[in-house]
Amino acid sequence: MEISLTLNARPINVSVEPAMLLVELLREQLSLTGTHVGCDTSQCGACLVHFNGESVKSCTMLAVSADGGSVMTVEGLAGAGQAKVHPMQQAFHENHGLQCGFCTPGMLMSAVDLVGRNPDPSETQVRDWLEGNLCRCTGYHNIVKSVIAGAAAMRDAK
Ligand code: FES
Ligand code: FES
Repeated sequence: MEISLTLNARPINVSVEPAMLLVELLREQLSLTGTHVGCDTSQCGACLVHFNGESVKSCTMLAVSADGGSVMTVEGLAGAGQAKVHPMQQAFHENHGLQCGFCTPGMLMSAVDLVGRNPDPSETQVRDWLEGNLCRCTGYHNIVKSVIAGAAAMRDAK
């Protein structure tokens, strides 16, 4: 099937199999390997991308469902013409919000969605929001610190 979507702010047309998952389209057909696959049970959140501005698990969405919509992956987070990294990415770097980095793309996409809904989240709100994102390395503390710092940086950048 032929579908059209906006991917990281650029319009594209692609041909997909009817049963292809969005994450398969991104990683295998479009080589956007920043979106990770960490489970086969829809639990880890490593595959999070934004669809029409909201975070979704791309392992649970068919590629054909993206037809006519807008998808943003971690590769598009900084945005064309902006700084090389997004303020949330910078905050993760400065607050040691990652170790192996496997969960990080999903954490970033989830965190940016949270701050879009709630520009000044409390620690409790960050922890609750990130419930669908698993990290095997950090113990979460520095991720939560990073999200709070990233939210402040995003407010300052407005
Ligand atoms: Fe999508 Fe784990 S790969 S939730
Ligand atoms: Fe390794 Fe989160 S940094 S899984």
